[in-house]
Amino acid sequence: MNIIFLGAPGVGKGTYTGKLKILYGIPHISTGDIFRENIKNKTELGRDAEAHIEKGELVPDELTIGMVKNRLAEEDIQNGYILDGFPRTIPQAEALEKFAKIDVVVNFVAAESVIMQRLSGRRICRKCGEIYHIKNIPTQVEGYCDLCHSETYQRDDDKPEAIKERLKVYEKQTKPLIDYYKKKGLIVGIDANSEDIETIVATIRSKLDEFKQKPA
Ligand code: AP5
Ligand code: MG
Repeated sequence: MNIIFLGAPGVGKGTYTGKLKILYGIPHISTGDIFRENIKNKTELGRDAEAHIEKGELVPDELTIGMVKNRLAEEDIQNGYILDGFPRTIPQAEALEKFAKIDVVVNFVAAESVIMQRLSGRRICRKCGEIYHIKNIPTQVEGYCDLCHSETYQRDDDKPEAIKERLKVYEKQTKPLIDYYKKKGLIVGIDANSEDIETIVATIRSKLDEFKQKPA
């Protein structure tokens, strides 16, 4: 299936996709990760995106849409994919329809206090991108990734000012996508408040199975 993961910053999209991409054997396409990779490699796209991301703003649609269109032209998407963090605006969703057929949109919901706690304690591995949390999912050795033993870091946009801006941007520009996809009959809702990640992942799987069996 071609799946979109929708939801506020910090709701856990990257964490759940990390598990599901292995279970389903399909690629995880995170626009945030692609931008961060470009920033790290000092590409032109990275330079254009960096100032927006640091402030918690969205990267302009024309840059983001072109980037996703190129990514979805690659060979590895034949058996499906999970799009994490795209689309995030109505124009992005309209553009996506022209070059992809989406089967289902999973919408994650959690309380704002839960989201704030998750974002402010998040740590990422500098090398492999594995996601941790200082309290919820701590590394075995503080400051170092369990998988590849590289250093972990706090994202620049996980500082309080940028978090505030990202949540505002989400409310204004991304939340309208829930209705957009509801009207198309594509939304599956998931309560992501629980700290039991395995249970959330199992719920996503069973809801996706149910959705697949629904008559069109
Ligand atoms: P992006 O990287 O996509 O950030 P985001 O949408 O703000 O989402 P996050 O990655 O912050 O949260 P997440 O839901 O993946 O949560 P995670 O799994 O890490 O985008 C970054 C920026 O790039 C944007 O602000 C924008 O500037 C730009 N951009 C990207 N896409 C764009 C687009 N389409 N258009 C324009 N600009 C775009 O989990 C969070 C924390 O919680 C972690 O520490 C994790 O360990 C913990 N956690 C997760 N789930 C649980 C749980 N159930 N219980 C306990 N802890 C949990
Ligand atoms: Mg993410």
